[in-house]
Amino acid sequence: MTTDQLAFLNEPPNPYWLASTPTTNYPQLADEISADVAIIGAGITGLTCAYLLKSEGITVAVVDADHVCQGTTGHTTAKITSQHGLIYSKIKQQMGHEAAQQYAVANETAIRKIEELIRVRKIDCNFRSQNAYLYTEREGYIKKIEEEAKLAAQLGIEASVTEEIDLPIKIKAALCFAQQAQFHPRKYLLSLALDIPGNGSYIFEQSRIVDIDDKKKYVLKTSAGHRLNADKVIIASHYPCYNKAGLYFARIYQERSYVVTVKTSNPYPGGMYITAEEPGRSFRSLESEEGELIMVGGQHHKAGQGIDTREHYKKLAQFAQATYPDAQFRYRWSTQDCMTLDGVPYAGQFLPSTPNLFLATGYGKWGMTNSMVSAMIIRDLIVKGESPWQHVYNPSRQTIAASAKTFVVETLNVANQLVEGKLSGAPTDADIKPGEAKVVIIDGDKVGAYRDEQGTLHLVDTTCTHLGCELHWNAAELSWDCPCHGSRFTYEGEIIEGPTVKPLKKGKEQID
Ligand code: FES
Repeated sequence: MTTDQLAFLNEPPNPYWLASTPTTNYPQLADEISADVAIIGAGITGLTCAYLLKSEGITVAVVDADHVCQGTTGHTTAKITSQHGLIYSKIKQQMGHEAAQQYAVANETAIRKIEELIRVRKIDCNFRSQNAYLYTEREGYIKKIEEEAKLAAQLGIEASVTEEIDLPIKIKAALCFAQQAQFHPRKYLLSLALDIPGNGSYIFEQSRIVDIDDKKKYVLKTSAGHRLNADKVIIASHYPCYNKAGLYFARIYQERSYVVTVKTSNPYPGGMYITAEEPGRSFRSLESEEGELIMVGGQHHKAGQGIDTREHYKKLAQFAQATYPDAQFRYRWSTQDCMTLDGVPYAGQFLPSTPNLFLATGYGKWGMTNSMVSAMIIRDLIVKGESPWQHVYNPSRQTIAASAKTFVVETLNVANQLVEGKLSGAPTDADIKPGEAKVVIIDGDKVGAYRDEQGTLHLVDTTCTHLGCELHWNAAELSWDCPCHGSRFTYEGEIIEGPTVKPLKKGKEQID
């Protein structure tokens, strides 16, 4: 590809969902407030929980460190589907047929529930019914696809196998789920959010929760010292922001993945597509002001690890252009997803001993339906004391052999990052060009240094404020990323995403 074609990579990331909708302006939490349920996080999970609970006459207070749907929800590919790779075969093998059945019914119900909300509330959010395809270009995957199709059909999903798809890609086989959907997630959620404040319920923005006290009631404290009192708490902060119990940091890891959008003269045939094998690639269309664009996604890797992040965008752009030779690049963005050890989200009670503390996380990149499933499970647990899908999503389910093996691998990986970061040498040469970052030694201390295009040097302590791993520079997003559990910081040390709740120490303070 030419330098001109790659020029869009020099511009800052601009997720289409955020670029095409207004920033919200809900108030900060500035007093002491009480509600029946406090919800940490105003992404798709937090807002859906709030909406469902308020519909049951329960007061809610949603509190977000940033703005509504600015985080993972603003960076998704927004595919509303019960097709999550080869998930049904995996669940059946690990947890049994009954668990696979629960997962299928839950996710198909979630699609219909989202569709119903959009229809009843007349939400203009580009909702389109689509087929979802899981395709393979390899002979070795044909049998897996056939088995998944057979199982999905047994579980009640409209599933079939085809040998051709309408993309300009030669495939060996594809699994098709009918009656799936896509939409503009932020248009949908900004509309839902409008119904939440009022009659004792609230949304608060720019209010980071830094502590949760379990007294007679829960008391949540913000970084500014304000308090939110509630009988029950739902942690919907993507990665759980509560570290006092549960050891979730040892049961969740984060992956980053990338999206580029292209304009092409090649009409898009409809449908949502994803590869069954590596490297992961996905396609869907979106309706923009300049007409139809094609979203091409993929290039996932563990957060804070891997090659120079700009290379991931380049590889994806090269793939998009090989598929659509006249591709003109438009928007680009990346996202970060929480992954569980067995591939099934954690949604329900935070621990068996905390009947009033709930969490929803670990959607494994399938957050549109899994957020609705999680919200319905938590609503049912709060309102009725039980949910038909609570067992398969139970955050405290028994760790089975396969995931226990992964657990060891993931834990070792984190331990390596801790040790590697602290032991490796750092350059002492502080000759950093505009747009560059290095870890340097200043007065004997290891400091992350980024020089912006105006020549100003920004110094931060590169020790992650979560559990102390050494941060890595992310050149594509200009951020310091943690290879252990995925916390991310701006080059000035402010939090982009957790689990941490503390900004980085500024390098200057350290030098002084
Ligand atoms: Fe856990 Fe950085 S996110 S140590």
